[in-house]
Amino acid sequence: MSERIGEAVGETRTREVDERVVLAGIPLRNAVLTASGTFGYGTELAPFLDLTRLGGFVAKSLTLEPRHGNPPPRIAEAPSGMLNAISIENVGVKAFLEEKLPALPEGVVVIASAFGTEPGLYAELVARVTAHPRVAGIEINASCPHVKAGGIEFGQDPKLLAELVATVRRATAGPLLVKLSPNVTRIADMAKVCEAEGADGITLINAIQAMEVDVERRRPVLSNILGGLSGPAIRPIALRMVWQAAQAVRIPICGVGGIASAEDAVKFLLCGATAVQVGTLNYLDPTAAVAIADGIADYARRHGFARVADLTGALESPKGK
Ligand SMILES: Cc1cc2nc3c(=O)[nH]c(=O)nc-3n(C[C@H](O)[C@H](O)[C@H](O)COP(=O)(O)O)c2cc1C
Repeated sequence: MSERIGEAVGETRTREVDERVVLAGIPLRNAVLTASGTFGYGTELAPFLDLTRLGGFVAKSLTLEPRHGNPPPRIAEAPSGMLNAISIENVGVKAFLEEKLPALPEGVVVIASAFGTEPGLYAELVARVTAHPRVAGIEINASCPHVKAGGIEFGQDPKLLAELVATVRRATAGPLLVKLSPNVTRIADMAKVCEAEGADGITLINAIQAMEVDVERRRPVLSNILGGLSGPAIRPIALRMVWQAAQAVRIPICGVGGIASAEDAVKFLLCGATAVQVGTLNYLDPTAAVAIADGIADYARRHGFARVADLTGALESPKGK
């Protein structure tokens, strides 16, 4: 049950809203994180905003060794969004731990993201990264839509997903989120697999597999042919998946996909998300996540919720019963 502050507008405006949430065992000062791959390693964005005002940020997905991405063109415009086929270009775990993490201001909640081509490689990476005191938790990317081996395969096959989550679970006792692929028929089944294998939370959704064509050149726009569609175009799909997963599991869900305003973020919370991530919007405005956190608190205040956490799953039935 939600704890109502009071019905009178005058009263609700004067009372503070508790913005804190706990995601997969990670205490966050507010419910808004930035999404993996859209916020670098944090250091790039530090000149533009106070990173400690974020709930946290999820760093670019890491592999054990540094990795080059796909050749250009690897991003393209799409209606209400973008296509990308960057393909987990990253500095590798050593540079992340030794150079990127120490360069971050104190007090920033960092969730690292792990990627690999087989469960054992994910596990090795997770063990190394989560041993670092600056890493609050790990998100495993089981869903990259444009890498030839690994990633999406794990997120699309329940048996592979179970093996991946179980293997990574043995590698860390710390908070473990699994980022699932939207490119599946029944997302609830995949969410249940994660819960059964000991994940502490689920992140939904990664970009949706997509392509675009240049008709004059009669060629795919992206060198990789396939990419991932992100941005507002995917938001209703992401909302649907968060809602379906929230009906199926008890572990917390982090909602991501097309969030462009505080109102969008509130939709995810109402559908059952405990926290949200802002992705593509960071390219338009790297400070947007902070404004969205403020806007969520304002929404809670206006609607008489004492705590942002009480918005989770507070969706009413369509007929208002
Ligand atoms: C350029 C780009 C790079 C991305 N890289 C990663 C990545 O390395 N790991 C990951 O889990 N998701 C990655 N994503 C997916 C986002 O984290 C997010 O799940 C997706 O874009 C949907 O959210 P959005 O519509 O708010 O962008 C990337 C997205 C974009 C646009």
